[in-house]
This record gives sequence, structure tokens and C-alpha cells, in this order.
Amino acid sequence: MKGIILAGGTGSRLYPLTKAVNKHLLPVYHKPMIFYAIEAMAQAGIEDILVILGGESTGEFITLLGSGKSFGVNLTYRFQDEAGGIAHALDLAENFANNDKILVILGDNIFEYNLKNDVEVFCRSDAKAGIFLKKVVDPERYGIAEIKDDKVINIVEKPENPESNWAVTGIYMYTPQVFEVIKTIIPSDRGELEITDVNNVFVKDNSLLAFYLEGYWIDAGKFESLYLASSYVRQFQNKGGGV
Ligand code: DAU
Repeated sequence: MKGIILAGGTGSRLYPLTKAVNKHLLPVYHKPMIFYAIEAMAQAGIEDILVILGGESTGEFITLLGSGKSFGVNLTYRFQDEAGGIAHALDLAENFANNDKILVILGDNIFEYNLKNDVEVFCRSDAKAGIFLKKVVDPERYGIAEIKDDKVINIVEKPENPESNWAVTGIYMYTPQVFEVIKTIIPSDRGELEITDVNNVFVKDNSLLAFYLEGYWIDAGKFESLYLASSYVRQFQNKGGGV
């Protein structure tokens, strides 16, 4: 399996922090945000990772991460010319994936769960897509799964009237078929190729597996959640101490 980390986008919800600095370089307690996705991939046993870059200060990623050697992984980089959405960014990974299964992590997702077992389950299965669900208190912010008889029957992106509290986190697994599906979807009202539209194709096809994340999970893309992410890491990774 190969890994894809998405670190493009505009980070507009964090302006002016992200005016000159890419969101994924901002600190989450004692490390730059992007470290967490790379470490989660390494922990899951994934060695070859493509980082999709976009927005501001993209050259600094090379200075910060280099070849990936210090994480025990091999990093490759690609540039997304415009913030065309998560599925648009993922499409840039087709050649890199080269017919392998892929684990995709959005660079602003911070979580403590070890993905390794679920990655192995997905790799052994016939499923074409895997998503990770987490119960949240603010479902309007996320892709939300509608669940019936323990099965995901639909996903709605940022619903006004959410059917559940089960957020689809920014951690996904796919077979190479995902690249064919991306080519069939059209931009949403916000002008982006939505990963939710991609996932719904697999829901309808009955080929999507849902996994459940344990421990804390945060999308650190807003001021409050960025602050919370730092505080969780400090608290749960036991990095607290004197000032
Ligand atoms: O965090 C989970 C949520 O992430 C999901 O529940 C939603 O279904 C999914 O659409 C996404 O929602 P956001 O509105 O939080 O996505 P955002 O635009 O913040 O992008 C998330 C990450 O994806 C961001 O850290 C960088 C990357 N990205 C985003 C865009 C729009 C790119 O690499 N390129 C892009 O063009």
C-alpha cells in the first residue's frame, strides 16, 4: 500500500495565519501539523508517501521534511496548481499509486488512533473504498454518514440537517478504481471536486467499508480546533510540563 497526504488548499478559515504560511506548517503543540499525518502513515507500516502541496510556502516542506528519512519513509512531492478540491488533489496521485491500494490522509487531521490493523483488514478485503467514522458534536462541519442496519447508505457534505453525528474523517483507503471514479464526478456548488461525491459512488456500488476511529480526532482547520488539537496532543501524548 502507498500513502498520499493532502497538504494543498488555501487554509482560508485560518487567515491571517495562513496568508504567508501553509496551514500544514503551523504548529500543533510541539510539531508542525504535517508531522502527524506522516507519523500516522509510518505507524501504519506505509513507507512510500506522496505529499500533495499547494497554496503558500510550499518550498519550505522540502526544508522541513526532506526525503522523509528521519521518519523512516520515502517522500515524493507534487504540486496542485489550484485548490480544486480534495478529489482534484487526489487525482494527481494516479501515476504514483501505480495500481497499488492507497491510504489517504488530509494533512489537517490530528488523531491518536493506530490505523495499522484496519489498513490490513482493508488490504485483505474485496472492498474498493474504506472510510473512518467518528462521532462529533458539530456535524454541520463535516461529511456526515447516514447509517442504517450498521451500513453506510449515504454521505452528505456539510449537511444543514444532519442525519447523524457520524463524521467521515479525512482518512480514506482506496483501490486504484478511485481514479476512474474521480474522472466521473463534477464540481460542487463551492466549485470543488468533493471526496464525498467519490465516496458515495462506492456506497451505491456496495463496495465501501466503514471503520471506527477510537481516541481523539480533530480537523485542525479552524482557530478553535487548531487550539484544541495542540491541547489534546499536550494532554494525551504527555508532553505537558513546565513553562
Ligand atoms: O476533516 C474531515 C473533513 O474534511 C470531511 O468530513 C469532509 O467530508 C471533507 O470534505 C473535508 O472537509 P473540509 O471542509 O475540512 O476540507 P478542507 O477544504 O479544509 O480540506 C482538507 C484538507 O485537504 C486540507 O488540509 C488540505 C487538503 N486540500 C484541500 C483542498 C480544497 C488539498 O490538498 N487541496 C484542495 O484543493
